[in-house]
Amino acid sequence: MKQAEFNFSYETYNNTEELPTTDSKLVEKAIDAAKNAYAPYSEFNVGAAVLLEDDKIVMGNNQENAAYPSGLCAERVALFYANATYPDVAVKTLAVTATNLESIVDGPVKPCGSCRQALAEAEYRFGKPIRIILDGKKKIHVFDGIKDLLPFAFKPESPG
Ligand code: THU
Repeated sequence: MKQAEFNFSYETYNNTEELPTTDSKLVEKAIDAAKNAYAPYSEFNVGAAVLLEDDKIVMGNNQENAAYPSGLCAERVALFYANATYPDVAVKTLAVTATNLESIVDGPVKPCGSCRQALAEAEYRFGKPIRIILDGKKKIHVFDGIKDLLPFAFKPESPG
């Protein structure tokens, strides 16, 4: 038996002013997107913004449904919209933020497992890592790619 270890790393920032300008602009877009969320059941408005390789920005927000599982998270709404509209353009960065009834959550927002798997697929599809910005009022985390958020992600070519 051999013990194996997994290490992951990420950057932390205290507020958007500390972020590189491209990242803070993307977070602003995610904050705008959260305003249009349809979240009458959770009252938790999530916004996501995707920066594409050609510098286009695509936004999304959570879309809920009375039949709960039929809704979709902000990250996947933005990512799938980007991939559906610009199928040949790689995704460079995704920013996500969330507000409750009062304000932006202390955060950072943690994407669900399904969104992480969708991000893994987008990296795999375009062969490039996606920078992931998880926004929060008190802390922002930035990841270089999904490998640090979803270790051992399912990939068709590596079932072992
Ligand atoms: N949600 C997102 O849109 N993204 C996340 O990263 C976490 C959760 C949504 C799903 C649901 O509409 C609401 O937030 C409460 O879970």
